[in-house]
Amino acid sequence: MIQYVSNKGGGEKVDFETAILNGFASDGGLYVPTELPKISLSQLASWKGKSYTEVAFEVLSLFIDRSVISSTELRQILRESFEPFYDKRLIPNHKIKSIDGFYVQELFHGPTLSFKDVAMGFLVNLFNFFLKRKGEKMTIIVATTGDTGPAAAHASIGKECLETWVLYPKELITEEQERQMTTIMAPNVHPVGVTNCPDGADDLDLLIAELFADTKFKNQLNLSSVNSINWGRVMMQTVHYFYGYLQTVDRVGEALNFAVPSGAFGNLCAGSLAREMGLPVGKFIVANNQNACLHRIFSQGIFLKKDIIACQASAIDILIPYNFWRYLYFATGQNSTKIKNWIAEFSKTGKVVFDKETHTKYSKGFLSIPITDAQTLGAINQVFQAENYLLDPHAAVAVAGGQHFRAKLAANTKTLCLATAHPCKFPDSIALALNTNKTELPSAAKHDSVEAAKLHCERGYTCDYKNMGIAIRHSMLAVSE
Ligand SMILES: Cc1ncc(COP(=O)(O)O)c(C=O)c1O
Repeated sequence: MIQYVSNKGGGEKVDFETAILNGFASDGGLYVPTELPKISLSQLASWKGKSYTEVAFEVLSLFIDRSVISSTELRQILRESFEPFYDKRLIPNHKIKSIDGFYVQELFHGPTLSFKDVAMGFLVNLFNFFLKRKGEKMTIIVATTGDTGPAAAHASIGKECLETWVLYPKELITEEQERQMTTIMAPNVHPVGVTNCPDGADDLDLLIAELFADTKFKNQLNLSSVNSINWGRVMMQTVHYFYGYLQTVDRVGEALNFAVPSGAFGNLCAGSLAREMGLPVGKFIVANNQNACLHRIFSQGIFLKKDIIACQASAIDILIPYNFWRYLYFATGQNSTKIKNWIAEFSKTGKVVFDKETHTKYSKGFLSIPITDAQTLGAINQVFQAENYLLDPHAAVAVAGGQHFRAKLAANTKTLCLATAHPCKFPDSIALALNTNKTELPSAAKHDSVEAAKLHCERGYTCDYKNMGIAIRHSMLAVSE
């Protein structure tokens, strides 16, 4: 039986279904499997040539007991989750011809055009599957820096067992991202634009944590979350590392580097777990923007919250990379006592300085870099001028990070840069990068779905951050009645 525990060590062991539906563990920690499954090179080699959904089926089967979801049910949920993708290859690779050995993994062909769709569609379908089977309803709530929200909102359309609330910092996401939420007319989807968030979406994550800590409210609404605190998101994100590896390498067994635009460390936590499971990874390049929260952790051993800086790659304007605690649990040999103490120290003082041994252990195989806006725009311009291929600002952060470390990467290793969003979601940045105006953007900077959303009415709630704690409770209770 595959079981899940809190990375803070409290509460009891639960099965996969309970870990998914609860979101947070009962002690406020993040669920982790009691043991990570291992994959041999011959097993990995046997997956070469399989489609993304077939690889997903193989990887997820290692985390889910057949008694919880049968293989027929799992295949069906996967099929439904990837049905709305615009590109039927789902997650294609693109070779960057102008940078030797560099490839882009296009993770942005889902219904809301970011990598969040890859795991979110599946997780929301999983929620609905479990809830239907139990005959229950649930309220889910997420905070977003601009991409998680649209993905959760879209995936929830027509899901009879779910009421979905999406909180976003109103001035800090693009109009295109906002409209992907506010033009959804499904009655169970509730976007909430929050004004005056001093620390962007991190404020909203804290607010959500407060709602979860309010047991009466949580029980009243049967509340859960599909943020990357949810194990299902991280588990599903391990798959694109396996799949990307198989698509890129010439020989199974050779090391591949991954350059990843990072914020809350959900995506890279998944990558590091894939490596722990046996994926041959050269280096992980942690590509931050100027908020540099992960760069401080990896280069200096300091987990520290600073003031937010609004950057071109705005979806990674994140100060608290909460999924780092999940990774650290494994990097410290599953030491939940240490994790619990560090989290408590961070809540109290806003800072943790890791001891040298821990820092050395967790940073093995990682290189980190904070990319400036000038470097981000420069990478977009460079690749577009060289080969007419358009990166979004987040993919550009990854490519710029990868290029920075080229000399340090082992000779003849390839580097896969994760392209986490479609450029059409960031037209202002693209116009700046290409020295043009928004009306003259290349066709690669447009997408029919985003253009269509410009011609729809918008609906949703707005609220000032200072009243949000009370206001959101009132609205959620009113809707649930
Ligand atoms: C486009 C894009 N790239 C990268 C990230 C960073 O992912 P993570 O927060 O898992 O590090 C996000 C999400 O926040 C995103 O929306």
